[in-house]
Amino acid sequence: MRADYDDLRRRIAALTEGEDDAVALMATLACEVHHADDRFDWTGFYRLVAPRLLKIGPYQGGHGCLVIPFDRGVCGAAARTGEVQLVPDVEAFPGHIACSSSTRSEIVLPVWDGSGRLLGVFDIDSDQPDAFDEADVQALRSILADTFGRLA
Ligand code: SME
Repeated sequence: MRADYDDLRRRIAALTEGEDDAVALMATLACEVHHADDRFDWTGFYRLVAPRLLKIGPYQGGHGCLVIPFDRGVCGAAARTGEVQLVPDVEAFPGHIACSSSTRSEIVLPVWDGSGRLLGVFDIDSDQPDAFDEADVQALRSILADTFGRLA
């Protein structure tokens, strides 16, 4: 089953209405997104906790690495550049961090609050190769902006 992003976006908006705690928002979003699509095998957040340092946040799936510096992995690249990382083949990505050996492709989006401050990154990993496309980028970007843009 592929995510119905319009439905997902509405559901997340309803569930998080009035909430302004970043971790509560991350937990709800990780759960709703993860269970909306069969391609998603690990779904979660890494939070910016110190200059150039990410730590694990709320997630769904198998265990995730606890700490990711900005200069490592796909998550580090998204945080460092502020650009969405769409990786069709993780083995071809220099410095990819393999938390799970079954991961074949991934998408990582930077997460900003309403003031443009980086909160962390949102990472989805798939056991299928080339699982993500531009439609995922657009929809997930807009869900993240809806959800975290309310924080200042
Ligand atoms: N694949 C990520 C690491 C995080 S986990 O897979 C949960 C990366 O290279 O940034």
